Amino acid sequence: MKNSSSRPTQSSMEIQIHCPAPATKLPRKVCAPEEVTLLLRILALLLLLLVVMSIATTSMDDERLRSWRFRPREDDDDSMAYQPPADLMHNMSDGELFQRAMDVSQLSRHRLGMVPKIAFMFLTKGALPLSPLWEKYFAGHSGLYSIYIHPRPSYHADNASSSVFYRRQIPSKVVNWGSLSLVDAERRLLANALLDLSNERFVLLSESCIPLFNFSFTYQHLMSSRYSFVDAFDEPGPAARGRYQPKLAPEINVTEWRKGAQWFEASRQVAVIVVNETHYYAKFDELRDVMYLQDEHYIPTILTIKAPHLIANRTLTWAYWTGGPHPETFGKDDVSDGFLRKINQEKNCSYNDQPSTVCYLFARKFAPSALEPLLKLAPTSLGFG
Ligand SMILES: *[C@@H]1O[C@H](CO)[C@@H](O)[C@H](O)[C@H]1NC(C)=O
Ligand SMILES: *[C@@H]1O[C@H](CO)[C@@H](O)[C@H](O)[C@H]1NC(C)=O
Ligand SMILES: *[C@@H]1O[C@H](CO)[C@@H](O)[C@H](O)[C@H]1NC(C)=O
Ligand SMILES: *[C@@H]1O[C@H](CO)[C@@H](O)[C@H](O)[C@H]1NC(C)=O
Ligand SMILES: *[C@@H]1O[C@H](CO)[C@@H](O)[C@H](O)[C@H]1NC(C)=O
Ligand SMILES: *[C@@H]1O[C@H](CO)[C@@H](O)[C@H](O)[C@H]1NC(C)=O
Ligand SMILES: *[C@@H]1O[C@H](CO)[C@@H](O)[C@H](O)[C@H]1NC(C)=O
Repeated sequence: MKNSSSRPTQSSMEIQIHCPAPATKLPRKVCAPEEVTLLLRILALLLLLLVVMSIATTSMDDERLRSWRFRPREDDDDSMAYQPPADLMHNMSDGELFQRAMDVSQLSRHRLGMVPKIAFMFLTKGALPLSPLWEKYFAGHSGLYSIYIHPRPSYHADNASSSVFYRRQIPSKVVNWGSLSLVDAERRLLANALLDLSNERFVLLSESCIPLFNFSFTYQHLMSSRYSFVDAFDEPGPAARGRYQPKLAPEINVTEWRKGAQWFEASRQVAVIVVNETHYYAKFDELRDVMYLQDEHYIPTILTIKAPHLIANRTLTWAYWTGGPHPETFGKDDVSDGFLRKINQEKNCSYNDQPSTVCYLFARKFAPSALEPLLKLAPTSLGFG
C-alpha cells in the first residue's frame, strides 16, 4: 500500500497527466470527485432498475412455466397452452395450433437450460421408403433431434415402436392439395415443432431426400450457423419474376418478389416469423386460384421483406435440374461413392460470411431403389451406419 502510493504506477501517472485536478491532495481520484459520485449514482440507479425488472418478469414467467411443466394437462386452459402435446395426433385447427405455438415461443428464455434439438420435418406424399437410411443416421443421437411427418391427408404412417418415426405423424388439415396447401402443410409442421421449446433449428425434407453427412456434423453445422438456409433469389424471365402477380401490390412490390426451392432450414426465430405471418399470407390466399407454384415464392418473399438479414438465400438441399419441371431422380444405378462426393465439390459457398467447401447437407431426389446402394455406401461415403 505504502509502497504503491510513494511510487505511482504508470497508469496513475497517466491519469494525473490527463486530469488537470490537483495531484497533491487527491493523487488517485479520476477527474473531479463530484463527477465520480454522479456517475456512481446513475450506475446504482440503473442496476436497481434492472433487478426490479428481472424480478417482475421472472415471477410472471415462472408461474407459467410451473403450470406448463408440472400440472396435468386437463387442469386449466392456461396450462394446456404451454405443454407440448404428448400425442402428436391432436385435433387443433390451424388457428388454435398457431396461437399455441406463438404462446409457447414467448417462453423462449426458459430454453436456457435445455439441450437444443433439430426438428426434422418430413413433408411427404405417403410412406418414407428411405427410412432405413434415416434410422441409421439418427441412431445414437436421441435427445438431439425430433421428427415430424406430414403426409397427404389420407395417409397413416404405421411404424414399429422401435422406429424413430413411430407416432411422429402430425394431423393434416390440408384440404385441396395445391401449391399454397404445401405452404399450409409447411406452416403446420413448423407450428407443431415450435410447441417443443427445445427445438432450435427446423429442417424441411421430403421422402426422396437423403443426408450427405453424419448427424454430428449436421448438428454442428446448423447450430453454429448465423443464418437460416432459405433459398431466395430474383431473376428476370417467366420462371421467376414473370410469376409475380400484379394483384399482389401494394402489399408486395415486384422488387420484393423472390423465388426459391421449397426445402428450407430455419432457426427458431425465423420459424416464428413464418408461423406468425398473416398479412402477406392473406394476400396469397386471396390469389390462390390465379397464381401458381405459390410454394416456391411465399416463404422466400416474406422473409426477404421481414427478415432479409437472417437468411442465407440458399438451400442446403441439393437437386439436379436439367430444364424440366422437376429435378432428376436417382436410382440404384446412379448412386456411387463418386456421385455422392461430387455433390459438394461442384462449388464453394459462404457460411457465416466465410468461404466454405460445404454447400449441401442433404440431397434429392432419390428413388426407393437407391436405398440398397445408399445403405452400403453410408459408412464410407456419408460417415454413418
Ligand atoms: C377430432 O375432431 C373430429 C371432428 O371434429 C372428431 O370426430 C374426432 O373424434 C376428434 N379426434 C380427437 C382425437 O379428438
Ligand atoms: C406475432 O405478431 C404480432 C403482431 O402481428 C406480435 O404482436 C407478436 O408479438 C408476434 N408473436 C411472436 C411470438 O413473435
Ligand atoms: C414405416 O415403415 C415402413 C416399413 O416397415 C415404411 O415403408 C414406411 O415408409 C415407414 N413410414 C414412415 C413414416 O417412416
Ligand atoms: C462425422 O463426419 C465428420 C465430417 O465428415 C467427421 O469428421 C466425423 O469424424 C464424423 N463423426 C463420426 C462420429 O463418425
Ligand atoms: C416498387 O418499388 C420501386 C422502388 O422502390 C418503385 O419505384 C416502384 O414504383 C414500386 N412499384 C410499385 C408497383 O409499387
Ligand atoms: C440475402 O439477401 C438479402 C436481400 O434480399 C440480403 O439483405 C442479405 O444480406 C442476404 N443474406 C446474406 C447472408 O448474404
Ligand atoms: C473451393 O475452395 C477450395 C479451397 O478452399 C478449392 O481448393 C476448390 O478448388 C474450390 N472449389 C471450387 C469448385 O471452386
